[in-house]
Amino acid sequence: MNKSSCLIAPSILSANFLRLGEQITACEKAGADWIHVDVMDGHFVPNLTMGPFIVAQVRQATSLPIDVHLMIDNPDDLLEAFVKAGATNLTVHVETCRDVVSTIKKIHSLDCRAGVTLNPATPVDSITPSIPHADLILVMTVHPGFSGQNFMSDMLEKIASVRKLLDEENSPAYLEVDGGINATNLAHVRDEGANVFVAANAIFRHPGGIAAGIQLMRQELGESCQ
Ligand code: DX5
Ligand code: ZN
Repeated sequence: MNKSSCLIAPSILSANFLRLGEQITACEKAGADWIHVDVMDGHFVPNLTMGPFIVAQVRQATSLPIDVHLMIDNPDDLLEAFVKAGATNLTVHVETCRDVVSTIKKIHSLDCRAGVTLNPATPVDSITPSIPHADLILVMTVHPGFSGQNFMSDMLEKIASVRKLLDEENSPAYLEVDGGINATNLAHVRDEGANVFVAANAIFRHPGGIAAGIQLMRQELGESCQ
C-alpha cells in the first residue's frame, strides 16, 4: 500500500471570528495543510454558520487549500458560488443529494475537487456509487451541527469499511474524518485508514494556543498515512 502524508485541516468553526485572519495565519505557520469551512443552513443541520462571503475572505487570508463542508439542503444550487469564492474542495452530504454522482460531476465541471460525506446514522453502502468518482470521502464522527462534541468511537469500524471500499477500487481519494478528533483518538482513526483529520476545538481551543494544538496532533499522527 502506498503511504501518503497525513493532512491536518483546522475547522474555523471554533475560531475567534474577530481575529479570523490572524488565526488562519497561525494555522498556516504551524503546518496546517487545509482550512476546513463548515457551511450550515439551519435546516439540514440545526445550526446556521457561513456562506460564500466567508470563503472569499478566507481565500484572501491564505494560500492553503480551502476544504468546504456543505451541510445544506439542495447543495447543487450553491456549488458555483462556493467555487467562485475560492473553494478547493466541495464536500456534499449524500443525504442531501437526489443524484450524488451528478452532483460530483457538476463540481468537477466547475474545476473543483468533489467530496462526499455521510452522517453517523447513514449506512456505508450509500456512498458506494460515489467511490469511482469522488476525490474525497468524509466520514462524520459526530452528528453534524456543532464543534466540541465527543468522537463517536463506533465510527472506527465505518472508517475501516470506507478504506476497504476505496482500496478495492484502487481509489486515490482522500479519506477524511470530522468530529471530536483530538490527540487521544487520532492514531486510532489513522490506523483504520483515514488520512485527513479535521479538528476545531482541539486546535482553536487548545490551552497552549493554535500552534500547540497543531503540533500535538502532528506529533501523535506522525508523517505517514495510508
Ligand atoms: C461538525 C463540523 C465539524 C466541527 C468539528 O458539524 O462539521 O467540522 O467543526 O469540530 P470539533 O473538532 O470541535 O469536533
Ligand atoms: Zn466539518
